[in-house]
Amino acid sequence: MNSGNHRRMIKKMLFFSDQEGIMNRYLREKENWDPHLQNTKEFIINSFQNPATKTIAILGSGWLLDVPLEKLAERFEKILLVDIHHPPQIRKKVEQYSNVEVQEIDITGGGIKFVWKLGTVGEKKIDASYLLSFKPSEPQLSFEPDAFISLNILNQLDILLLDYLKEKTSCFTDDDYQHFRKSIQQFHLKWISGKPGCLISDVEEENIDKHGTSTKQRLIHTELPKHFRSKQWIWNFDLSGKYHRHLQTKMQVQAIEW
Ligand SMILES: C[S@@+](CC[C@H](N)C(=O)[O-])C[C@H]1O[C@@H](n2cnc3c(N)ncnc32)[C@H](O)[C@@H]1O
Repeated sequence: MNSGNHRRMIKKMLFFSDQEGIMNRYLREKENWDPHLQNTKEFIINSFQNPATKTIAILGSGWLLDVPLEKLAERFEKILLVDIHHPPQIRKKVEQYSNVEVQEIDITGGGIKFVWKLGTVGEKKIDASYLLSFKPSEPQLSFEPDAFISLNILNQLDILLLDYLKEKTSCFTDDDYQHFRKSIQQFHLKWISGKPGCLISDVEEENIDKHGTSTKQRLIHTELPKHFRSKQWIWNFDLSGKYHRHLQTKMQVQAIEW
């Protein structure tokens, strides 16, 4: 796919607007987000004590809100920032680091194109079993890193893909979606847990209405890798009632290092 088509696909599947949405929500909720961002940065800084780990890929780097880039650039010989799109401001910012590279690639191992293709064939031609045939392949990174950081992305990988599918077709069942979601998360963890790594992810979403009634939803549909270090905290994700109308949304966040 040429880069014009790629951009069109990413735009239509709302990756650009989602990324803008992250920055807008951050600006609105800065006070509530800062403790979460600080916890994430601290967890990362305290990871990778083994000096043999010299290079690293950061998956889902986005706006670098949760990346202690300065410290990591001192610690590692080479850093690869990986995202489906790097905002121009971030490309500019990282120019000052001679050991930081950026790469735009789909880290689901092909999920974006797989879903896009379904959206282009027309609903009548879609077979309900198609979704089960997704076979992710390992993303080809610009260099082979010694370690990975999976950065607030594990539960995000399927969201825009499923939104797009749901808009294009009604032929899949909740079970089909659940299977697809699970296979994306399992693939991500299988890929990155073959090397040293750390992962920070929302694991549960809590929504609280104006009467204080709370509902909770699990966001991770597979086992996290075995780890030797972990930390948990609550992220006051949206207290203004904009993410879900009139609801306050809090995330339970889990950080692990293996
Ligand atoms: C919730 S954000 C993580 C926060 C991010 N570190 C920041 O500071 O903006 C998730 C990031 O993952 C990226 N992303 C989502 N799906 C992706 C995919 N399939 N491949 C690569 N990047 C993806 C998004 O573009 C976004 O920048």
